[in-house]
Amino acid sequence: MRKAARGSSEAERGRAVLSLGILAFRWVSLGWMVILALTAGELRRPALAVATIAGLAAWTGWLTVARPRPTWPVLACDLALAVGLNLVAGLVMPAGTVGERPFFAAGYPVAAAVTWGAARGVGGGVAAGLVLGASLVAGQLANGIDLASSEPAVLLDLAGGTLNFVLAGGAVGLVARLLERSAGQLRQATEETIRARERAARLAERESLGRQIHDSVLQALALVHKRGRELAAGGPVPPDQVAGLAEMAAGQERALRSLILRDPADDGTPAGAASLRAALEGLAGAERSLPVTAGATGALWLPARHVEELVAAVRQALDNVVEHAGATRVALFAEEDAGVVVLTVRDDGRGFRYDERQLLAQGKIGLAKSIKGRVEQLGGTMAVTSRPGAGTEVELRVPIREDERDR
Ligand SMILES: Nc1ncnc2c1ncn2[C@@H]1O[C@H](COP(=O)(O)OP(=O)(O)OP(=O)(O)O)[C@@H](O)[C@H]1O
Ligand SMILES: [Mg+2]
Repeated sequence: MRKAARGSSEAERGRAVLSLGILAFRWVSLGWMVILALTAGELRRPALAVATIAGLAAWTGWLTVARPRPTWPVLACDLALAVGLNLVAGLVMPAGTVGERPFFAAGYPVAAAVTWGAARGVGGGVAAGLVLGASLVAGQLANGIDLASSEPAVLLDLAGGTLNFVLAGGAVGLVARLLERSAGQLRQATEETIRARERAARLAERESLGRQIHDSVLQALALVHKRGRELAAGGPVPPDQVAGLAEMAAGQERALRSLILRDPADDGTPAGAASLRAALEGLAGAERSLPVTAGATGALWLPARHVEELVAAVRQALDNVVEHAGATRVALFAEEDAGVVVLTVRDDGRGFRYDERQLLAQGKIGLAKSIKGRVEQLGGTMAVTSRPGAGTEVELRVPIREDERDR
């Protein structure tokens, strides 16, 4: 959920940067206003100028410290102050000088237009800009300027000032809306990524369950099936044979129950490192049906999870040799070259034509899911080299990242 909120937090961050920029602008224009007031020479109402600057400093200080949300009362107050400032400028500037000399109100009222734009979008920014434009007119009137008989240049100046407010408010409004839209798109993309990850995790869990069921319960069921038919065909059945099958079924029942009850959060990943050569030797030593040799270019210390998965894959390849190859021997060999572990299972049996699609269509999932699926989950690949009559070689290649090795 934290990630899902990323889009909105990006928008929050964008808005925070924008409002910081506006605050900085307020302080700079306030400072400029003080400089203008000090250098203006005679002001008509110095006390009013000082009080206005003090009031604006207090307002700007409160905005900086409290960082209030741009609610309607805050926005209304800000706009009222900016309008008031334009009026006061007319009152404190020497009569008839507004528009001719550096203006007392300086750029501070622009902050109100952009604050409205940031909070209420283009419409809000433009509306505030128009109100501020109107207050410029009021300021000129308060300064004793007779607009009716003014030069066209004065009116053009007024229009230009209004346009500045409107453009500033509208442009910031546009930026704020774009910011929100891209934050929305980011949020949507993040949610989609999360959903895709959840789907992938569910799929991986399903694949892993499928492999475990194939390697244990399915193999046992196939054996029970085969032995059951053999026993049925051979006349009276010795009780110990039936008891053996029942025991096998009971063992697999227990295994299936614990698989179902397994805590999904516990992925059973073993920690630490293990020697692949030792594990292969253990596997070869346990095989009773035919001679198996195991070799490696060294101990091959790998993450224990890799060793566990590789051994499970090799066990399936060995089962296939026993089941299908009619081989006289099998060789397991492992080596590591440039961070890639290469493991081969080679037999001298009858061989076959490997066609994954065809095998899956026949419900044969050992090679595709239990072997290939396993190495692919480790980021590796499987290759089968086999021809009828020429034996079979199953090659597994798995890259080992250095950070996995250190775990
Ligand atoms: N080493 C091998 N030598 C000869 N044939 C093989 C060998 N390995 C696999 N095969 C052939 O490939 C087929 C597919 O093997 P796979 O392990 O996918 O399925 P399976 O062993 O038939 O059934 P299961 O799904 O129970 O493993 C086998 O049925 C067999 O015909
Ligand atoms: Mg198989």
